[in-house]
Amino acid sequence: MVVGSGGREHALAWKIKKDNPTAELFAIPGNGGISEIAKCIPLFAEKPEQIVDIAIQNNIGFTVVGPEVYLTAGITDEFTKKNLKIFGPSKKGAMLESSKLFAKEFMKRNKIPTADFEVVDNYNDGVGVLEKRAFPCVVKYDGLAAGKGVLVADNFNEAVDFLQKIYSDKIFGDTNNKVIIEDCLQGQEMSYLIFTDTMCFIPMAPAKDYKRIFDNNKGPNTGGMGCYSPPFFFSDKLESRIQQEIVFPTLSGLAKENIDYRGALYFGLMLTRQGPYLLEYNVRFGDPETQVILPRLESNLLDIMEATAEQSLKKCSAEWSNKKSLAVILASSGYPGEYKTGKEITNIEKTKTSDVVIFHSGTKKEDGKILTAGGRVLAVAATGDNFEEIRQKVYRAVDIINFEGKYYRKDIGLESFI
Ligand code: AMP
Ligand code: GLY
Repeated sequence: MVVGSGGREHALAWKIKKDNPTAELFAIPGNGGISEIAKCIPLFAEKPEQIVDIAIQNNIGFTVVGPEVYLTAGITDEFTKKNLKIFGPSKKGAMLESSKLFAKEFMKRNKIPTADFEVVDNYNDGVGVLEKRAFPCVVKYDGLAAGKGVLVADNFNEAVDFLQKIYSDKIFGDTNNKVIIEDCLQGQEMSYLIFTDTMCFIPMAPAKDYKRIFDNNKGPNTGGMGCYSPPFFFSDKLESRIQQEIVFPTLSGLAKENIDYRGALYFGLMLTRQGPYLLEYNVRFGDPETQVILPRLESNLLDIMEATAEQSLKKCSAEWSNKKSLAVILASSGYPGEYKTGKEITNIEKTKTSDVVIFHSGTKKEDGKILTAGGRVLAVAATGDNFEEIRQKVYRAVDIINFEGKYYRKDIGLESFI
């Protein structure tokens, strides 16, 4: 059973089905694309107890969790209590993502390179810290904020406005009032993910995500507008530094602090002149990283996830294809602000060649039609020998698919060969 409803979950379901064609697959709640390969159960709450009941009723042998909200709500702890097998960290482990402050203090304790930071819990102290800071600097709300909790502020006024939104307008609610103010790091950003059972790890193929809405990385941050793997600047030497300086200290920190972590761990990195720095942890697969990583995985994903959950990852290995992989997100115009949904999507079936795959994010099936149902609608993904050729395949399919308000970035992967 796959829990979640995005492109990441479609990619997980697609890969599981590809490796295990006879597997009976379920999804909660799933989406229009997932419903073609799995039985979707329309539960739109993140309550772990209800999902446990569904797992028991349907005799589910294994569950993989996509979004962090379920992990933060303790789904893994509830499944484990009932002896149900699940892929994803415990509630404690999920704090590496659900509390940025917990994550930063964990990094500091375990000597993991990260931007220097200060913490405040009210507006006046925040302004006081900002008065002494150089700009740009980064202001981060401590709790989960659906990707909207971070501002890279170019100047004092912008930073103060954000503090006002947090403390006066309470845009993230008022149960958590902590804010982190940190140095702004310069460099290339990339995503490095691993499978880990706390004792050992298997690296995934590295990826580069495009977070901004407009070409040339302009405009506001989004959940991710496209992705490619591997990043053109990636090398064995860089990977070895990432593992030595960031991955190993993280795993020994988890063990030392008795944090049971069995799942995917995502390191959001900034490659600075001083070496790799850790911006953040995510306690799950990335979206859209998964849509480019899994097409490169030649091994059986379910075997690796089961070994992770059983803490026998040491006995497992993963084979990655030498092919390259790229995905472009089709979004509803207006995203990440307001946008319309319910628009019919046509011509998806006309794009189905052997190596273009369409992963659904915000879609739903109604009366046999596929309709838009979210900001990020589809990911068009393909693999190949070089990015020039892959981009041609992907953008050809992007042109064929139609829906009112279709928006996408035109520069995904371009930097890798220009
Ligand atoms: P986060 O939610 O922590 O991943 O932050 C969102 C985005 O803000 C990151 O993907 C980076 O692009 C940017 N960011 C976060 N922290 C920093 C930092 N210390 N320096 C520069 N950019 C940052
Ligand atoms: N692509 C960024 C994330 O999954 O958080």
